[in-house]
Amino acid sequence: MCGIVGALTGRPAAPLMLDALRRLEYRGYDSAGMATVVGDALHRRRAAGKLAELEAVLAADPLPGTSGIGHTRWATHGPPTAENAHPHVAGRVAVVHNGIIENHAELKAELKAEGVVFTSDTDTEVVAHLLDRAIRAGQTPQAAMAALMPRLTGAFAFVVLVAGEEDLLIAARRASPLAIGVGDGEAFVGSDAVALAPLTRRIVYLEDGDWAVVRRSGVQVFRDAGVPVQRREQISTVSAAMAGKGNYRHFMEKEIHEQPEAIAHTLHAVLDSGTGAATIPAPLDAATIPKITIVAAGTSYYAGLTGRYWLESLAGIATEVELASEFRDRDAVLPEGGVTIAVSQSGESLDTLMALRRAKALGQKTLAIVNVPESTIAREADGVLLTRAGPEFGVASTKATTAQLTAFCSLAVALGRKHGRLSEERAAELRRALAGVPGRVGEVLQREAQYQRVARELAHSRDVLYLGRGLSYPIALEGALKLKEITYIHAEGYAAGEMKHGPIALIDEKMPVVVLAPSDGWFEKTASNVAEVRARGGRVILLTDAAGAERLAEKDDHVMILPDVEPVVAPILYAVPVQLLAYYAAVEKGTDADQPRNLAKSVTVE
Ligand code: AGP
Repeated sequence: MCGIVGALTGRPAAPLMLDALRRLEYRGYDSAGMATVVGDALHRRRAAGKLAELEAVLAADPLPGTSGIGHTRWATHGPPTAENAHPHVAGRVAVVHNGIIENHAELKAELKAEGVVFTSDTDTEVVAHLLDRAIRAGQTPQAAMAALMPRLTGAFAFVVLVAGEEDLLIAARRASPLAIGVGDGEAFVGSDAVALAPLTRRIVYLEDGDWAVVRRSGVQVFRDAGVPVQRREQISTVSAAMAGKGNYRHFMEKEIHEQPEAIAHTLHAVLDSGTGAATIPAPLDAATIPKITIVAAGTSYYAGLTGRYWLESLAGIATEVELASEFRDRDAVLPEGGVTIAVSQSGESLDTLMALRRAKALGQKTLAIVNVPESTIAREADGVLLTRAGPEFGVASTKATTAQLTAFCSLAVALGRKHGRLSEERAAELRRALAGVPGRVGEVLQREAQYQRVARELAHSRDVLYLGRGLSYPIALEGALKLKEITYIHAEGYAAGEMKHGPIALIDEKMPVVVLAPSDGWFEKTASNVAEVRARGGRVILLTDAAGAERLAEKDDHVMILPDVEPVVAPILYAVPVQLLAYYAAVEKGTDADQPRNLAKSVTVE
């Protein structure tokens, strides 16, 4: 949501923090700021817009000091102006914050009644004022923080810098992630370990509800009102190189091209090298599972929808898929012994985390399918199935999605075998098909020029429809989401059979209709829906295989032929061309594919 950093070093803090913020810009990029402390004085620079604007401000007016905090923002309370940019300063205290202080209105009213004047529209500023008030009243920063924590409600992470304290940062987390980096006579704080990668690999992850006193000599961690706790130092495996674009223009382009490896690594991690079968993680290893409930948001939700098809058809397990933001507040009726799977690239989406907690409260066993091993969702679930896509920075999820699909499909095959739904012969056939997917994705990528050509045309459309049936339906939804989030073109994904119940009214000669039609059990019916589109003048962009093209393509269509694959694994392959169409349409339109307006990579607010 927002990216936060803190540094206690022997070097100038501002350039180092700017560099760390660049690696966090995926979390938010509508304004940015920094503060440092030198003796008894706090110094601050802020700018509306992307980090480059702050960089220009710093170049013109550098920040002194070796201790500081920094922030890149995704606005929740108050528009993205310089006044609302973090750090927020009150008297002796500066604060950077990610998340929402839910009871900020009540706290603000209390402070206003004492005559405090607020200078921003943010919820964050109350934290700075409350700490400053306590410190001015004679409390130490640590005592002030211990008294403040129980007063705050919401999901947040923040870092505090205090005038006169050049060897102190106070960091706190409740639900939103925060990592503390331990250096050699230096200490750092960051929203994730990637931000700190060039600075240190020694990381202490704060647990939910922890807060910490960070000094150059070490870290002390406390719970709520000040009970000390021990948190283990871990060696992070992420490297700064992972946070670079290499020779690509955008992270999204790089990550699309990393999919053969992401899928292969995920397969390698989930398949037992001896038997070739996927290892079934707890709690899915139970003898019987009355029902699986999948909870997720956005693209991860669409991966879950695909997962349902596989879990039902291959493993014969009743499966529901729920939008995490809805499930968390619903009175869902779930059977005893049921398993909830939370799917999330980041492992930090607050809606998904809350849905996971809700499922636990409803007595469900839980499994996390996540891409970030140290994430909150991974830590809180009973079992974890890690996708191995590597860090994903593009706001539009690509390689994490195909890795999630790969994990779901492998899991469904293993469960199908375990529960006797699949013969060993059929399971082995499907495993071979999965093993071939990285190569087939590579072939799609070799033919990307054709997607680029069609995307040029798509980029000038006002609306686009995506249609698919069965296993292709969730990929149609995914294609529409990808296009709208990075090109701002209105797009809808529909189950092809549902089109005649309403959306067909939208079709005219200006409406491109992207049809996902691999040669599978749904092909004939999809073909009828394509005929209905053509009969109304719609422009067909057909994604199919050679046999499908032979049967369905007409001369006015754009036809993109994908490699032949076993229909069961086709969704993993067909997810790639819809990414390419969206990406190249964004390039054609000139929108920023990595940092589309209004969005952030990791959504840690409700
Ligand atoms: C994907 O392209 C999106 N930007 C978004 O829908 C994302 O998938 C969603 O916010 C869930 O994120 P998560 O997988 O990290 O939980």
